[in-house]
Amino acid sequence: MENRKKGRVMSGIRSTGFLHLGNYFGAIRNYVRMQEEYDCFFMVADIHTLTTHPDTKELKPNVHRVLAENIACGLDPEKVALYCQSHVFETAELYLYLNMLAYKGELEKTTTFKDKVRQHPENVNAGLLTYPVLMAADILLQRASYVPVGKDQEQHLEMSRNFANRFNHRYGEVFPEPYAFNFGEDLVKVPGLDGSGKMSKSENQNATIFLADDDETIRKKVMKAKTDAGPTTPNTPMPDYIANIFGLMKLVSAPEVIARYENDYNQAVIRYGDMKKQLAEDMVNFVAPIREKTEAIRNDEVYLRRVMELGAEKARKSAAETMEKVREVMGLKYY
Ligand code: TYM
Repeated sequence: MENRKKGRVMSGIRSTGFLHLGNYFGAIRNYVRMQEEYDCFFMVADIHTLTTHPDTKELKPNVHRVLAENIACGLDPEKVALYCQSHVFETAELYLYLNMLAYKGELEKTTTFKDKVRQHPENVNAGLLTYPVLMAADILLQRASYVPVGKDQEQHLEMSRNFANRFNHRYGEVFPEPYAFNFGEDLVKVPGLDGSGKMSKSENQNATIFLADDDETIRKKVMKAKTDAGPTTPNTPMPDYIANIFGLMKLVSAPEVIARYENDYNQAVIRYGDMKKQLAEDMVNFVAPIREKTEAIRNDEVYLRRVMELGAEKARKSAAETMEKVREVMGLKYY
């Protein structure tokens, strides 16, 4: 699968719950486009979920669901390495070495860490502090240059680059610099339906459309999206929450539909009820086939086991090659 491809890609999704449109448009859409032309490693980040102490009974169904959702969105486990983070033991070794190059001050300044401290002051564990180091280990282990992620992961990618550069500088060139990737455009942030924050697996559930939501749930959530009485004069500047609805429409609706509502807005004749009904139907049409495919795959344990074994084999082969180099340049070879 190597040489004729454009370069190495690595990315991951935590198995903390159901995937949503943010995960799809921020990350998975790029995975699917990249799988034809790049050498791809995509992973379920199950170890990262342990930083927030999930119920361990949830691990297996959650990992199975994320794998099934990735495949239902179009990832082909034969074309890419689709694997589970905890199956690649080399990750732990690289994480350990990178920890010696990561400083407490920079880790404490990470936005996601500060958010978690605010949300769960009773569980500020060392794994949470070093979360970006584990993520860097995932990426660097596969010597990836391209990391398709949403906007919320930008800071983690900057930290991964810093760790890679520090390692290369201190011990010797092993790692390419990894960059966040989104096909020629800015990174994506899919907003929540309530006009504030972003779609998220754990917060903001009523403002998030999950790939597992049934048609009625999608319609209900979309119809509740925040709007107002509409503009009273033509070409009024758009409030954020209305711009968000247009942003969501751009993800799932046809260009002529969007143009019509934009025109209605500019003419101050827009009817938000109609617009939301249209958005809801377009979201239903987008989500339903993915949901149905996921259901067919999710409980096929024999198939999912094969996927995980095949993925682990590919990921561990390249990880073992990286770790050989890492140990060598670090001087950890005594005979
Ligand atoms: P996670 O599981 O929070 O999210 C998975 C992917 O979905 C993207 N995403 C979004 N994009 C746009 N709009 C949103 N509302 C939105 N919500 C989520 C995220 O940016 C991400 O691309 N730390 C990572 C998992 C990880 C990883 C890695 C990623 C572990 N190791 C190595 C890349 C490379 C995370 O928690 O993603």
